[in-house]
Amino acid sequence: MSDTPRDPADDHASPANPDNQIGLGRQSADADHAAKIAGDIPPRTAPDAPVTPRAKARRAGKRHGVAQQETPSTGHQWDGITEYDNPMPRWWLWTFYATIVWAFFYVIAYPAIPMLTQATQGVLKTNARTEVAAEIERFAQANAPVQTALVAAELDDIPADPQLLGYATNAGAALYRTWCTQCHGAGAAGGPGYPNLLDDSWLWGGSLADIHLTLQHGIRDPLDSDTRYSEMPRYGTDELLEPTQIVQVAGYVRSLSGLDHDAADAAEGAGIYADNCAACHMDDGSGDRGQGAPALNDQVWLYGSDPETLVRIISQGPYGVMPAWSDRLSEAEIRSLAVYVHGLGGGE
Ligand code: HEC
Ligand code: HEC
Repeated sequence: MSDTPRDPADDHASPANPDNQIGLGRQSADADHAAKIAGDIPPRTAPDAPVTPRAKARRAGKRHGVAQQETPSTGHQWDGITEYDNPMPRWWLWTFYATIVWAFFYVIAYPAIPMLTQATQGVLKTNARTEVAAEIERFAQANAPVQTALVAAELDDIPADPQLLGYATNAGAALYRTWCTQCHGAGAAGGPGYPNLLDDSWLWGGSLADIHLTLQHGIRDPLDSDTRYSEMPRYGTDELLEPTQIVQVAGYVRSLSGLDHDAADAAEGAGIYADNCAACHMDDGSGDRGQGAPALNDQVWLYGSDPETLVRIISQGPYGVMPAWSDRLSEAEIRSLAVYVHGLGGGE
């Protein structure tokens, strides 16, 4: 941009710009032009003549071979346009009558006329609702034997039985999409606070039986008395540790998995860890599945590994809640889900 002041003739908002000078002169020229056009149009003397009967009859007669005769008019005229009184085309009329007959039989045969609580049912007694119900029933019956077998089988034998495995994997995938994606993600990779179900890192265990139990009773579900339960103390909120100690132990946690850390903090933190944390997360940070305590020495983080997240989790405590499913899903469904999750890749 140059710093010379702008020429007003270039400024799009300036009256000095010629583009902005469509003033009175131009307006009156436009008005003159409009008047001239109006003057050039001769005044209308009589309504337009209707299409000559001959021309019309020629058109109609050639195409349909009907006798040539003049079409009567309804007598209505607007601005010289007359309205002919043509009959509806035959094909149109017959189609119309056919729909009336069709509607008559339809009303008798199918649900049609709305009554107080439901519509008339029709003599065929068939409707989309009963069809869907019948379809669902048919599937339920078709699946009943395999579901019974699924529930009767030993959990660990299921993956070895191709029929049970195939059924459980398909049913489990559909159930997963309905009930689990909102927390664990469509691809089961989880997110902060929601564990990844694809990897080998498990809070409570990745065997079929472990997953099955987790699904049945949930984790920290207050409504299920058999839920998996453990509670990491809230070291900051409950003033169990000083804020500086929390930063120090967070530094030590980072050192456990080889992340960069403040060496002095970590050295102080080691003692704090041994006293407060090792009981659940183990001396080497390998975690304890009996308490759902995650490993802190691997690269897998449920909540995150950055210092702020670690300080927050240690201060306020994590408190992940996973709902129990045994009151919502059947045993066959829970088993299908367990088999599906077990088969996702991290199953043990
Ligand atoms: C409301 C959110 C939510 C829903 C819905 C949910 N989960 Fe979870 N799930 C969690 C949370 C949170 C955890 C981790 C709990 C913790 O921190 O200990 C978890 C843990 C798990 C675990 C244990 C993982 C481990 O490492 O031990 C499994 C298995 C699991 N979920 C499977 C499922 C399946 C299958 C479904 C669908 C039926 C489901 N979850 C639905 C929130 C949810
Ligand atoms: C009573 C057992 C217990 C004690 C003691 C305990 N924790 Fe935990 N910790 C847990 C459990 C259980 C979880 C996972 C819980 C959840 O997801 O809700 C957890 C989760 C964590 C996490 C999150 C890990 C991740 O993958 O994101 C960190 C970090 C952590 N603890 C650090 C500590 C530190 C540091 C101490 C000591 C100051 C400590 N914990 C003491 C049980 C414990």
